[in-house]
Amino acid sequence: MLSFQATLLTRQACCIFIYNTKPKQPVFSNLKMTTSSLVSSLLIIIVCSAALLGGVDARPSSASRVEAGPAGPVRPIRPRPIAPVSALVPKQLFDKLFLHKDDAACPANNFYSYESFIKAARCFPSFGSTGNLATRKREIAAFLAQISHETTGGWATAPDGPYSWGLCFKEEVSPGSDYCDSSNTQWPCVPGKSYKGRGPIQLSWNYNYGPAGRALGFDGLNNPELVSNNSLIAFRTALWFWTTPQSPKPSCHDVMVGTYVPTQADVAANRTAGYGLVTNIINGGLECGIPNDARVNDRIGYFKRYAQLFQVYTGTNLDCQYQKSFA
Ligand SMILES: *[C@@H]1O[C@H](CO)[C@@H](O)[C@H](O)[C@H]1NC(C)=O
Ligand SMILES: *[C@@H]1O[C@H](CO)[C@@H](O)[C@H](O)[C@H]1NC(C)=O
Repeated sequence: MLSFQATLLTRQACCIFIYNTKPKQPVFSNLKMTTSSLVSSLLIIIVCSAALLGGVDARPSSASRVEAGPAGPVRPIRPRPIAPVSALVPKQLFDKLFLHKDDAACPANNFYSYESFIKAARCFPSFGSTGNLATRKREIAAFLAQISHETTGGWATAPDGPYSWGLCFKEEVSPGSDYCDSSNTQWPCVPGKSYKGRGPIQLSWNYNYGPAGRALGFDGLNNPELVSNNSLIAFRTALWFWTTPQSPKPSCHDVMVGTYVPTQADVAANRTAGYGLVTNIINGGLECGIPNDARVNDRIGYFKRYAQLFQVYTGTNLDCQYQKSFA
């Protein structure tokens, strides 16, 4: 319990402390304050405060920290700083990827800022920081390519080509429904609310808005509009989707960094690691197992252009035309 709370706070410190579904209760109100429980409560508070103070972004302050050895000389610990996402995606590169996102013709103009992307990434410490430099660049390029397809304003003969128009839309334009799965009782739809595509990943359905909000500190079922009117929340929902496995699917993050382990069913369905499998996770039910699908090709087109700008190899298995989608 103790270590669980501390871990949770360290990992998600910048995301979770805003929102509670249940009316607020003092944390320890249901404990009988015996001496021992008082002591353990104090301990929890101390550990949690330490975790919060350390923070997820804590970096060694100066050249190196020192730790006193058991007897004698001071032993320096060499920090191995991981370059943050902002170092792998400097603003200049971001602007080159998204040449037209702030054009007047784009409904999302001036919504998706570089600063929001970088700030949101800080809540997901594993994103862009797992594996070697090439793996990290490839994951970021894949993420940015997928959100570009989801929000594209490009067309075949568009200025600068079809793959320079990512982040042009912030919400689905003419949704066919409210994307309410009423059979889902864990995340019940709120009458009158639409769970249509919003934000960089076009988060949709009550069963995604509910858990995304819960993880990120807002009430996704009552306030789904936040995903298209707050750019920090918008990017956080995209990274939440990217890094969160939803059984039987692995996370997109696991696939791109090589920690995905296929099950027997995955092997039988040709769900081999690669960018195509990420497409399968995002929208395989509609797009995979189809030869030469235009939507899949658009996702691949973005990835190829971005990988080139990141100067990184795309890897193999870009397509999902021979894959079965997840059940
Ligand atoms: C954004 O969405 C929330 C949730 O629905 C709403 O309460 C708020 O008024 C909206 N803000 C703006 C600026 O539209
Ligand atoms: C797996 O891929 C091969 C081609 O590489 C294809 O012939 C086969 O039908 C695919 N299997 C499934 C289950 O889609």
